[in-house]
Amino acid sequence: MAQDELKTLVGQGALQYVVRGELVGVGTGSTVNKFIDALATIKDQIKGAVSSSVASTERLRALGIPVFDSNEVERLSVYIDGADEIDGHGNMVKGGGAALTREKIVAAQSDKFVCIADASKLVDVLGAFPLPVEVIPMATARIVRQFAAMGGHAVLRQKDGQPLVTDNGQYIIDVTGLKIADPLAFEAQVSQWPGVVTVGVFAFQRAQVCLLGTASGVKTLTF
Ligand code: 5RP
Repeated sequence: MAQDELKTLVGQGALQYVVRGELVGVGTGSTVNKFIDALATIKDQIKGAVSSSVASTERLRALGIPVFDSNEVERLSVYIDGADEIDGHGNMVKGGGAALTREKIVAAQSDKFVCIADASKLVDVLGAFPLPVEVIPMATARIVRQFAAMGGHAVLRQKDGQPLVTDNGQYIIDVTGLKIADPLAFEAQVSQWPGVVTVGVFAFQRAQVCLLGTASGVKTLTF
């Protein structure tokens, strides 16, 4: 099965976790886009969504799904999002779509994180995918040096020859060469560096469920 079909399958599969009559937290990315398309088919059964990016908000609204500000909502039952990597404990690397900060915020206000991903995202140890980190622009060079000191190689993400600017007006660096053996400790450490807005390791906001698209169908992992 093609990767796109696997994304459609897990996107549709996530509908079973959406609590009818409530708001749902919605992530960002090509897999989540499949979920949003599926969500539109039950839009009359939900109140609406809290979105993690401008891109997802636009897609939700275009399909007639009301989008609420996260400040208006205390708790969400469930947050549905993709991942760049997920390990056997539900820890993830996220931010390939540059939406990691808002993703972590919406995940933090949700009771359950349901990750939707194709099988290529499942890893033993996080770190093969370049780790996204959102940073305050004036701190970029210092943070790049801090990653170098721990053996990583950080590169400023570019778009059309310019530094990519996130929905929050900040930069993204992508770090290779890391093996993140202890995701909780790593997230706690890097989150404290001055100028780091969000590190793309999701260990404190790890997934409780992962719907994994495999050649033999959707596999449900629970953590
Ligand atoms: C965006 C993300 C995405 O969830 C992650 O990049 C996976 O995206 P895709 O579903 O397109 O593979 O973290 O910031």
